[in-house]
Amino acid sequence: MEKFFYIKTYGCQMNFADSHRLISFLVKNGFVQVFSPEQADIIIVNSCSVRKHAEDRMFGYLNSLKPLKKKGKIFCLYGCTANLYGSKILSKYPFIDVVCSPNRFFESIKILQEFSSYKKKVVLQGESNNPFLEEIPNIKNQVSCEVSITKGCNNFCSYCVVPYARGKLISKPPEKILDEVKKLVEKGVKEIVLLGQNVNEYGKDIGSIDFVKLLEEIHKIDGILRIRFLTSHPKDVPENLISSFKNLPKLCKHFHLPLQSGSDKILKLMNRQYTISHYLKIVENVRNFVPDISITSDIIVGFPSETEDDFMETYKFIEKIKFDELFVFKYSPRDGTESSKLKDDVPEEEKEKRHKLILNLQEKITQQINQNYKDRVVEIFVEKESYKKKGYLIGKTETNKPVFFKGDSSEIGKILKVKILEGFTHFLSGEIFSE
Ligand code: 5AD
Ligand code: SF4
Repeated sequence: MEKFFYIKTYGCQMNFADSHRLISFLVKNGFVQVFSPEQADIIIVNSCSVRKHAEDRMFGYLNSLKPLKKKGKIFCLYGCTANLYGSKILSKYPFIDVVCSPNRFFESIKILQEFSSYKKKVVLQGESNNPFLEEIPNIKNQVSCEVSITKGCNNFCSYCVVPYARGKLISKPPEKILDEVKKLVEKGVKEIVLLGQNVNEYGKDIGSIDFVKLLEEIHKIDGILRIRFLTSHPKDVPENLISSFKNLPKLCKHFHLPLQSGSDKILKLMNRQYTISHYLKIVENVRNFVPDISITSDIIVGFPSETEDDFMETYKFIEKIKFDELFVFKYSPRDGTESSKLKDDVPEEEKEKRHKLILNLQEKITQQINQNYKDRVVEIFVEKESYKKKGYLIGKTETNKPVFFKGDSSEIGKILKVKILEGFTHFLSGEIFSE
């Protein structure tokens, strides 16, 4: 008998990439995807624990589904939260049946197939020797696709739960990545987004080619028009990665380089292993090679012991660097991390204030940068039709700016020249350029 499953995903792009592969794997094994939990036999929540807020939202959602338990549905908690808490989750949420670490999706399929014959709960925690679901996601009319190249992280930034939730760094062998990219190309994909917590450590654990070499190999694949990647750690940005932005034409001119704080004191407490002057040197170097590259970053405000002066160092550094975009987070202590042993002494209102100040500053900077695109002719990769306005398409500049313009869906998957008409904070508007 067919089993219907519903999946809800929280968190980062890597979690979404994991879910896409899990869906494809389940479908290949005879399960049928449905789009509401009421219709499903199996409800899967792929969870995120990076910040408490994300975790609370996810548990809130799970609780809201609890009444469906009476209808005999199987509840599965997958992903980071599942791995962090393991069987402890079951005492607090007894309606959950299967708990599965992000590294053990593969093993979970058999359990889901046979679940009714299991009388007890199943907890798949920890590492596995097959952490990557070797599966190509089910793709329909999709021209851009993520490919995870590593799992886990060895850096242990003091605030971060990822090394505990996703385990140690494991690189996917290069031949598997290249094979995956080629298969995606056969399915119509033209842009690849390489994902890893710190892509620059790629290959270290398996003694394979390094990240830059991997980029070069992917670059050779016919049919690929664009390559993007995230995330990089400022402590490991090699010179040849910086020159790749210039030497590899398919590599998009966008560098996501989380700063986290503009205070050396806080960076040290965060165990980030670089200083502000090191970060500044990377930015100067990158901009020397590729002046119009876009640089984006992550910032945490309200880390333990962050004074007004420490915060102002961050604020001024942001003013100086002028990032294209920032993701700003209020510090949230996570159990088991080093920083959770420090007193969370910045009051919530102060975190809120600092958060707003940076968001306001960044909005002005982004607006200014985006307004400078006006009247420029840029190459964009056309991704999809706009959901909001019929007859309009959405593409991205090499610098990762969404561009909204009038066009026919036959343009999807192509690189087009577009003249920018207006630059807004979150997107640009344009028109197809004809010479
Ligand atoms: N509190 C707040 N923000 C965090 N991040 C990671 N852990 C925490 C935490 N405990 C942010 C960092 C990271 C991004 C993905 O999430 O800025 O780069
Ligand atoms: Fe977390 Fe630091 Fe690893 Fe990023 S590099 S996943 S912030 S421990």
